[in-house]
Amino acid sequence: MQTPLIAGNWKMHKTLAQARDLVKGIRDAVDGTGGGAPITAAEVLVCPPFHLLFPMAKALAGSRVMLGAQNAHFEPQGAFTGEIAVPMVKETGCTHVIIGHSERRQHFGETGPLLAKKVRAVVAAELTVIYCVGETLDEREGGKTYSVIERQLGEVLAKDVPAERLLVAYEPVWAIGTGRNATPGQAQEVHSLIRSRLSAIYDGRTAGTIRILYGGSVKPGNAADLMSQPGVGGALVGGACLEAADFAAIIRAAVGARSQAR
Ligand code: 13P
Repeated sequence: MQTPLIAGNWKMHKTLAQARDLVKGIRDAVDGTGGGAPITAAEVLVCPPFHLLFPMAKALAGSRVMLGAQNAHFEPQGAFTGEIAVPMVKETGCTHVIIGHSERRQHFGETGPLLAKKVRAVVAAELTVIYCVGETLDEREGGKTYSVIERQLGEVLAKDVPAERLLVAYEPVWAIGTGRNATPGQAQEVHSLIRSRLSAIYDGRTAGTIRILYGGSVKPGNAADLMSQPGVGGALVGGACLEAADFAAIIRAAVGARSQAR
């Protein structure tokens, strides 16, 4: 089974002082500096807002916890007021960039052709991309989940995106911030579809190496069930990553679920 990646998407939350507290709590849990045993059977990533990337990189020096950005522009530099380029986020110490989050699609009009360029900019800088897909409630109730996911994958991913630099996150829009998570069965079903589309782009063996994260109301209480699904390679956590104790509980639940499933 794949080592799970548990990623926290902080969205537009946390002041510098709050962020320092949060990262200290996460470090203490993951690195074992808080007195408990270190958590070594999961990869852990935090994705703060841009203004916190440099100070959080400093706060994470020597830690197993990795740093990621929530978005980036596709050009390496230029006259794009208010934007941030991939080489800039790389300079802060980021190893991962989230691209195509549904909030970027919904509120900022980001669509396939733009996201295809962003994904390529991330991998060109030798960073890892977390490409997000997911259907709205209307689309699910209209029986369009498969076609939406296939389109979101097909218009952005192709063989030129190196599989070793790619993670996919399935985040059903109706589950984000609603407290209504997908059931483990629903997540597994869509993850299987994603895996089969990835097999068509790459090949079965390569597609099998790409981790597919689930996101949408992941909490300490549901993480174990979701993470025990064989197709679920980790979690992209929103609200519950803003408290170190909750985020650590999710990481521990994921590790426990994987070791039981082995
Ligand atoms: P919630 O965990 O708050 O539902 O958010 C999920 C998400 O959007 C992570 O990217």
